[in-house]
Amino acid sequence: MIKVAFFDAKAYDRPSFEHYGSMHDLQFRFLETKLNEDTVELARDCDAVCVFVNDTVNAAVIDKLYSMGVKLIALRSAGYNNVDVQAAFGKIHVVHVPAYSPYAVAEHTMALLLTSVRRIHKAYNRTREFNFSLNGLTGFDFHGKTVGVIGTGKIGRIFIDICRGFGMKVIAYDRFPARDSGIEYVTLDELFSRSDVISLHCPLTDETRHMIDAAAIEKMKKGVVIVNTSRGALIDAEALLEGIKARKIGAACLDVYEEEADIFFEDRSGHILNDELLARLISMPNVIVTSHQAFLTEEALNNIAETTVGNIVSCFEHDGICDNELCYRCGDIEHCKKERKEKCF
Ligand code: NAI
Repeated sequence: MIKVAFFDAKAYDRPSFEHYGSMHDLQFRFLETKLNEDTVELARDCDAVCVFVNDTVNAAVIDKLYSMGVKLIALRSAGYNNVDVQAAFGKIHVVHVPAYSPYAVAEHTMALLLTSVRRIHKAYNRTREFNFSLNGLTGFDFHGKTVGVIGTGKIGRIFIDICRGFGMKVIAYDRFPARDSGIEYVTLDELFSRSDVISLHCPLTDETRHMIDAAAIEKMKKGVVIVNTSRGALIDAEALLEGIKARKIGAACLDVYEEEADIFFEDRSGHILNDELLARLISMPNVIVTSHQAFLTEEALNNIAETTVGNIVSCFEHDGICDNELCYRCGDIEHCKKERKEKCF
């Protein structure tokens, strides 16, 4: 029996994990709390921890898990910027779910854009009160507009296809452009200056943190629409707010927010929101915020559970070897030795 402490568990996580867990000798300890230095003790007696995007898996947490005999950190997400993979090296294996439904995220990105640009959120509220006025609801055609896509991986590429379906002109920036993809790659500066819509689909790294800052916004077209379904810290939210107040940014659609960890995923409707910046952004008529919801489809939840359970079983049955293992050296193409199973450790 493999015992797994499942942190930050939500009602929608349980059915799929219980289903796939029951197909193997896996027992989940569902914990509503997030993993951090104060809660790590709850993983005692467990062989693995299963974590999500806002769990804190820093060096101190990893050392504690290691001292308790935990052998595996199983992320049930694609992004892993919340895990100190370097600190885990040589101590605990780290696995993730590289893809579960890139369609879910790409489709949510377009849903946000359409909602914002065609003012659907406002129309919905108006007609519920029998207000059938169209004043203030004017949008713009997507057809013929230029969308700048930053990050042309799995999600970015699907989003590009969706945009092309709308007759949009697509330009893109990626640190590692996809060869023979037919995508028009440009520099970041050119993307900023030419795009009517900018959509972020790259990972959060030291390099990409605050890639949308005051200087970047300065280079953009007046009225640009920015959509972020990737990671909050790609955008300097204060600079974004300033850009909105200055009428430079036409609209912002945010599924992620830099300081989301203690706010998103919970019902805070009865509480005073302590984050002034988020409250101000939400109060803007041209900002739409969803609460890290882009992944949330039935298909994605099933795929996440199936792959995560598969990762855990694979690791324990094959002496730590799993195709979805993360290695901090893997980003270092030059020095990667790929000694074992295409991985470097
Ligand atoms: P992917 O790994 O397939 O693609 C990422 C792309 O970003 C790659 O083409 C890579 O070359 C590029 N990239 C890396 N460094 C870059 C840089 N410095 N500048 C520009 N591009 C760079 O990842 P995928 O599956 O497309 O996911 C993208 C991001 O979406 C994830 O990193 C994650 O943060 C976010 N995500 C958000 C979800 C949500 O619910 N809101 C759910 C799943 C992922």
